Amino acid sequence: MAKILVTGGCGFIGSHTVVDLFEHGFDVISIDDNSRSTTYLIDGIEKITGKKLKNYKVDLKNFDETQAVFEENKDIVGVIHFAAYKAVGESVAMPLEYYENNMFGLINLLKCIRDYHIQNFVFSSSCTVYGNPDAIPVTEKSPTKKAESPYGATKQMGEVVIEDFTKAHGGKSILLRYFNPVGAHPTNHLGELPLGKPQNLVPAITQFAIGKLPSFSVWGTDYDTRDGSCIRDYIHVCDIARAHTLALQYMLENRNESNLEIFNLGTGNGVTVLEAIKAFETASGTQLNYQVGPRRPGDVVAIYANNNHVVEKLGWVIEHDILSMMKTAWAWEQKVKQDEQLMLSQNGNLN
Ligand code: WQD
Repeated sequence: MAKILVTGGCGFIGSHTVVDLFEHGFDVISIDDNSRSTTYLIDGIEKITGKKLKNYKVDLKNFDETQAVFEENKDIVGVIHFAAYKAVGESVAMPLEYYENNMFGLINLLKCIRDYHIQNFVFSSSCTVYGNPDAIPVTEKSPTKKAESPYGATKQMGEVVIEDFTKAHGGKSILLRYFNPVGAHPTNHLGELPLGKPQNLVPAITQFAIGKLPSFSVWGTDYDTRDGSCIRDYIHVCDIARAHTLALQYMLENRNESNLEIFNLGTGNGVTVLEAIKAFETASGTQLNYQVGPRRPGDVVAIYANNNHVVEKLGWVIEHDILSMMKTAWAWEQKVKQDEQLMLSQNGNLN
């Protein structure tokens, strides 16, 4: 079986991608320092696939420890790189930590890919590279704009580093620009585990609905959109995961048209915040008593994807609609609460 290294395999999108890779016959290992994740999702991966993910608890900023993983696994044929800090607001408050972690980690990883002659690399990029687009939907040829946050800047710079790396050292790289990944695995064994107060819309909704958050605000309903709230392209995490396996197979089967290709991972449907709330209410059968708050600085007014390129080239088929995203996200939130209550009753804390 072809062995794939996934960095950030204990995280939200990483763990779902590990499941998809296992289910499609790949052997998978992970590097994850668990600074923003736990091994809780490794159990979920095993429940779904029957396979135990081997995770190397290594910080990619430590070159020697990272290199040791490659030295021990000389049969790695591809790398998918998720491990990075990704909280937009936090990156504004802590730019140096974001540039250090996200850029040094990427560069150390690429040095190992170079030195161990690995020919297939997938990078977790983001629609944040488009900034506030002049025209929507955005295609992969839409202009990138100055990032609205250090987080977005690390994605933009990461793409440039990978482009230059690929030109200098060959091999094949694919940049996957995610729109808004949401939802949870239909088995309810995997989902999002935001650390601290969730900044993203869907975990904020589900944590408010289950009583973990005292309030939930819609950040602005006075935008120039059909209902005044911002528009995004929400995409189910399982559909995102699927695209990673397809991208690897595309390169392993030498179907790629160039050594560096870019794909937008979005549904192509723009959904407003208020429409997302409506979908949650329908999916959960509960009413969300939200407040309307001020606009959030740095928010893009409207963005969604033109995904023709990835559908055509990778044969990507989107399986989940906004109701499924909300249904699975809500089921996961309820399951996490049950698990927390079980842990509290058994050992009096959440560890
Ligand atoms: C969506 C909308 C908020 C919370 C994310 C990730 C970023 C990148 C792109 C991957 C906005 C509104 C939110 C709340 C709200 N993903 N909102 N109340 O800003 O598009 O960025 O996707 O790389 O990492 O952060 O997503 O979920 O934060 O916000 O009204 O409590 O929901 O104002 O309009 P965003 P988001």
